[in-house]
Amino acid sequence: MKERGLFICVEGLDASGKTTHAHRLVRSLQKRGLDAIYTTEPSGAEIGGFIRKHILERRRRVPSVVEALLFAVDRVDHVRKKIKPALKGGKIVVSDRYVYSSLAYQGAAGLDMKWIEKINKLAFPPNLSIYIDIPPEVAVRRLRGRRSVMEQLKIQLNVQGIYAILVKNGSLLPVDGNRPRNEVAKDVLTIVLDSLENHRKH
Ligand SMILES: Nc1ncnc2c1ncn2[C@@H]1O[C@H](COP(=O)(O)OP(=O)(O)O)[C@@H](O)[C@H]1O
Ligand SMILES: [Mg+2]
Repeated sequence: MKERGLFICVEGLDASGKTTHAHRLVRSLQKRGLDAIYTTEPSGAEIGGFIRKHILERRRRVPSVVEALLFAVDRVDHVRKKIKPALKGGKIVVSDRYVYSSLAYQGAAGLDMKWIEKINKLAFPPNLSIYIDIPPEVAVRRLRGRRSVMEQLKIQLNVQGIYAILVKNGSLLPVDGNRPRNEVAKDVLTIVLDSLENHRKH
């Protein structure tokens, strides 16, 4: 069996459980003796740090175009410095958010989706893209107390609208995230193990 990496991304609304389930997935894979790593966007590199500090931690949003460009640049860094080398080393890479977040959030802010795709051309598609599906109302309830600019119900509704399109066109595989954590985690793991089996067979 040829050793090849597998690239998985986890997407969803704010507080859908992406970080929870990306970490749990990595731990479950590691327990099975598989070489899996967790990574997240914005990345740990310079532009990622800039985005955290100047966009995510601020109450006021910068123009969507600026946001979209910064995330796209950070993604180039993320792919080149972290994702590609890990995949080359045969690892399973689990990314907490990826290009679909740009389509969903900046698309919801009114930017042209084709343009967002274009500036993200270097971000190759994952082998598996999981969408943790929760209703916007649940997202808002879980978010109470958190201070982010992207948390209002209206935004969540718009973002969900785009994620729904990406599910419908087959880009994202949905998992019902509005259930107890263990059930969600079990489904995520099953999907990934199936995908891994297929991937390594072919
Ligand atoms: N299935 C679930 N049911 C209830 N609460 C959950 C579930 N999954 C995650 N949470 C809680 O929701 C909050 C957001 O989870 P988190 O993983 O940080 O989401 P995200 O990374 O998508 O923003 C956390 O407090 C987490 O414990
Ligand atoms: Mg998170």
